[in-house]
Amino acid sequence: MNWHRVLQIDKIAKGRGYRFDVDGRYIFVTRLADKTHAISDLCPHKGASLSEGFIKNGYVTCPAHFWRFDVVDGAKQGDARTRVPTYPTRIVESWLEVELPPRAVERSLREILLAHARGKMDTTG
Ligand code: FES
Repeated sequence: MNWHRVLQIDKIAKGRGYRFDVDGRYIFVTRLADKTHAISDLCPHKGASLSEGFIKNGYVTCPAHFWRFDVVDGAKQGDARTRVPTYPTRIVESWLEVELPPRAVERSLREILLAHARGKMDTTG
């Protein structure tokens, strides 16, 4: 696990979402009340950017087809089996940091297609 600095905390408006490219992954960051939250920015439906959606009552609404995700636990509203990955956050010296797991091992296109054909497609990372 690695911590990545993304933005100074005083530059994060409460209730607004931000998108960051962190180590090659798009991360959605928001601040509700006095807590910060980080989830994947990619909607698991068709990959729209959640940071372009709007946030209300702790949920971000995808701008493409209006699926809603809890910004704390990443669960889709009404279907907790569908989730976006969540990431720990912390404040260090007034900077917001996000902890990301190590990247998945790079695979060749052949390996990806074979895994998909076998039903073992890993879409994380
Ligand atoms: S891409 Fe997000 S709901 Fe369809």
